[in-house]
Amino acid sequence: MQQLLVRPENMKRIDSPALAQAYIDEQVAAIREQVGGGKVLLALSGGVDSSVVAALLIKAIGDRLVAVHVNHGLLRKGEPEQVIEVFRNQMHANLIYVDATDRFLDKLAGVKDPETKRKIIGKEFIDVFAEEARKLSGIEFLAQGTIWPDILESEAGIKAHHNAGGLPEDLSFELVEPVRILFKDEVRMVGKTLGLPDGMVYRQPFPGPGLGVRCVGAITRDRLEAVRESDAILREEFAAAGLQGKVWQYFTVVPDMKSTGIKNGKRTDDWMVIIRAVNSVDATSATIEEVPYSLLLKIRDRIFAEVKGVNRVLYDLSCKPIATIEYE
Ligand code: XMP
Repeated sequence: MQQLLVRPENMKRIDSPALAQAYIDEQVAAIREQVGGGKVLLALSGGVDSSVVAALLIKAIGDRLVAVHVNHGLLRKGEPEQVIEVFRNQMHANLIYVDATDRFLDKLAGVKDPETKRKIIGKEFIDVFAEEARKLSGIEFLAQGTIWPDILESEAGIKAHHNAGGLPEDLSFELVEPVRILFKDEVRMVGKTLGLPDGMVYRQPFPGPGLGVRCVGAITRDRLEAVRESDAILREEFAAAGLQGKVWQYFTVVPDMKSTGIKNGKRTDDWMVIIRAVNSVDATSATIEEVPYSLLLKIRDRIFAEVKGVNRVLYDLSCKPIATIEYE
């Protein structure tokens, strides 16, 4: 078993590469001791926590880590490709890539209720992951990207611990949680020191149900494509303007609603893209980023030119509270 299950009260904040390196060395040794010659399974979403866990395990046990990346079809443009590039091509991980897009979108077809959408996505994820796990043999361990705030929040009853379990009973593993006692900024420092790309280490918060909650209402493939493409444009233009890493969270939303427009002298009936850019410390409240008008206009022009089925671009001025950050 791992020795460090609780964050020691006097533990120094890992805020330098030297401290991160010491933590990495300690965890590599702890993982090797816990796992011995065994194999470890990991659901690798490409988010900061699971990516850092993957990098630590690759360092400790190489291809005895089996990482499964499930593409639920609701990831941002380029994300599955980045996971494959970084982990399979650069770090030579034993990576299983599952494109389950059709499976998720078929189950979600016609489903409008946000909580039902979330439940379907969560359940389908477990099902796909469990199916992959059953195909493998000789695996005793399951790695998870649980971090210290997850433990504190579940202790305080704020949210159910979102990692740990959910898997069917026939799949029981011993847990490996090498970032369990770290705060988010420390996980990032460890990830950076492990050589993960900045785009992965400093990425903005992204909800588990992904673009599914930004394709408001019943998800259709064409509207989901409009969300994904407009989000990619927004991210590119924010990066070019130096706002990446400065603005806490930014994305686009396409509600299931059309309005009248005009194109080449003809009336159109198309969707609207809503741009959202907020600043926050812990997501419990948020203020609006005052994005320069010239940048908004540039993004509008690119969305009109490059995204199909859109005739209106709006900027959301709502703070949290009154609004929430996401739309559903
Ligand atoms: P709200 O919309 O509640 O969002 O103001 C606060 C933060 O949480 C993220 N969020 C989610 N994250 N699963 C997640 O993993 C979800 O279902 C979910 N809903 C919202 C949101 O992106 C924001 O950072």
